[in-house]
Amino acid sequence: MNAPLNAAAENVFPEPVAEAKISARNVSVYYGAKQAIDSVSIDIPKNYVTAFIGPSGCGKSTFLRTINRMNDTIAGARVDGEILLDGEDIYRSGMDVVQLRARVGMVFQKPNPFPKTIYENIAYGPRIHGLTTSKSELDGIVESSLQRAGLWDEVKDRLTDSGTALSGGQQQRLCIARAIAVDPEVILMDEPCSALDPIATARIEELIDELRGKFAIVIVTHSMQQAARVSQRTAFFHLGKIVEYGTTSDIFTNPRQERTKDYITGRYG
Ligand SMILES: Nc1ncnc2c1ncn2[C@@H]1O[C@H](COP(=O)(O)OP(=O)(O)OP(=O)(O)O)[C@@H](O)[C@H]1O
Ligand SMILES: [Mg+2]
Repeated sequence: MNAPLNAAAENVFPEPVAEAKISARNVSVYYGAKQAIDSVSIDIPKNYVTAFIGPSGCGKSTFLRTINRMNDTIAGARVDGEILLDGEDIYRSGMDVVQLRARVGMVFQKPNPFPKTIYENIAYGPRIHGLTTSKSELDGIVESSLQRAGLWDEVKDRLTDSGTALSGGQQQRLCIARAIAVDPEVILMDEPCSALDPIATARIEELIDELRGKFAIVIVTHSMQQAARVSQRTAFFHLGKIVEYGTTSDIFTNPRQERTKDYITGRYG
């Protein structure tokens, strides 16, 4: 559908993406006069986990936020270039941003459940997006979302407890269940495990692997081990640009760029 990146470009994808879920073309992001992302182009496929890695401050979160227009909520932030979701420009005028954020869900570093019941945390989205017509249908979505997020068994007897009363790892699975409940196409995760212990992290990583069968997943992580474990594609960001993008095994075992090699071997960053 979308043409592969220009083969002359420095950051060409190693295998052309036949069906890019997301295509970014020459995306630059500014905070006031300061440029945080410099002409980034990337094709992100569906049914894969794509990891964004790179040193702190290189623009990973900024670029991730362009994919569901979360930068719109930051005063002074400006996005240039094009981001296509299934070929449709998400920055076109008239785009329904609320609808977009249901299609492209986001999970943050710090779990952020609503200060509402576990049930309401999940039911809220499907209700405002009109996905259900009856209470029993809504109950079904709540249950299946919690099931898919691997949380149902732990919370099924306490759905009226507050979401904030759960452990950190449970809260993060609740936030994933909340993102899933509106039937998204893409899930963006910004360091989703950085506040979690190794057991909760392993649980989320398993979940990510299961979910990729249905969604395109993009995960920002500072953990090389995590990127290697959960992703099939890795993009290395440095100073607002993508230095290298390829299969995770190529990036980690056979990087083409010195800067990638230096980063993954821990020489800086
Ligand atoms: N709201 C903001 N206002 C102004 N500048 C910002 C804002 N958010 C980020 N920046 C700047 O944009 C650049 C990229 O930041 P970003 O948060 O995207 O980096 P990152 O790669 O996610 O870093 P980290 O790994 O530390 O999370 C940095 O120089 C940062 O200071
Ligand atoms: Mg960040």
